[in-house]
Amino acid sequence: MEQKKVTVPGLTRSKSADEPIVAVTAYDFPFARIADQAGIDFLLVGDSLGMVVQGNETTLPVTMEEVIYHSRMVARARQRALIVADMPFGSYQTDPHDAVVNAARLIKEGAAEAVKLEGGQAMAETIERIAAVDIPVMGHIGLTPQSVHRMGGHKVQGRRRGSAPGQRERVLADATAVEEAGAFAVVLEGIPMDLAAEITDTLTIPTIGIGAGPSCDGQILVMHDVLGLCESLSPKFAKKYANLWQDARGALESYAGEVRGRSFPSVEHSFQSLKSVPTEDSIAAGA
Ligand code: KIV
Repeated sequence: MEQKKVTVPGLTRSKSADEPIVAVTAYDFPFARIADQAGIDFLLVGDSLGMVVQGNETTLPVTMEEVIYHSRMVARARQRALIVADMPFGSYQTDPHDAVVNAARLIKEGAAEAVKLEGGQAMAETIERIAAVDIPVMGHIGLTPQSVHRMGGHKVQGRRRGSAPGQRERVLADATAVEEAGAFAVVLEGIPMDLAAEITDTLTIPTIGIGAGPSCDGQILVMHDVLGLCESLSPKFAKKYANLWQDARGALESYAGEVRGRSFPSVEHSFQSLKSVPTEDSIAAGA
């Protein structure tokens, strides 16, 4: 595995070289280090932490302070991967000036190398302003989880031609707007694979798919879905490559059983008293 540091221009080159980009979310040091060692190209400190780490139903409660806290842990694990931090709900939608200030905090305090924000045409000016101060911006269009209430749930976008008026065209226009505003890559989430293929062909920046089929320039999944660390079912588009929930539960049940059965700790996991070594005073006192 090549250990060369992944950079923003490096990801751009991956598209022209037709080398698939591999990404996963990360929220803490150990899993970030494991992902880095596994050769993942970029680690996203996603606001999905609100759901898979904090146990909320949506990503909306996540704060800037929380993303910064997690981003610092992930950044400490970085050796090769690029670190991208998500801009949480409310940190960039209110006005482009606030967005620049908060993006800078993710770089300065969170030690991220790029930021990601959700939205297409409506966020074009914001992307432009952040990119203008040399903070690399990744776009995110299609199923944007921060718009859960507008969408009426985490629903696939742009699926029907004609009958969902303009939805498909809107996703296409969002993709172009994000590229023209200066984003260096764009996440395509929850859109039909033919639409993702069309966007990938149209754009010069890399597309990173999640639930967007095989034609994207790269793929991203939530770490907990990849590793089987969720109690509930993962989304249809996610593939489980391990079952850590079951493994961890089994390990903890074994531990509990051994403590209750008094077989842990054994002598092997215990300390012996040291024999006292005679000192000159104790010898003189005849002890
Ligand atoms: O927050 C997140 O994990 C994301 C990915 C699903 C792309 O935005």
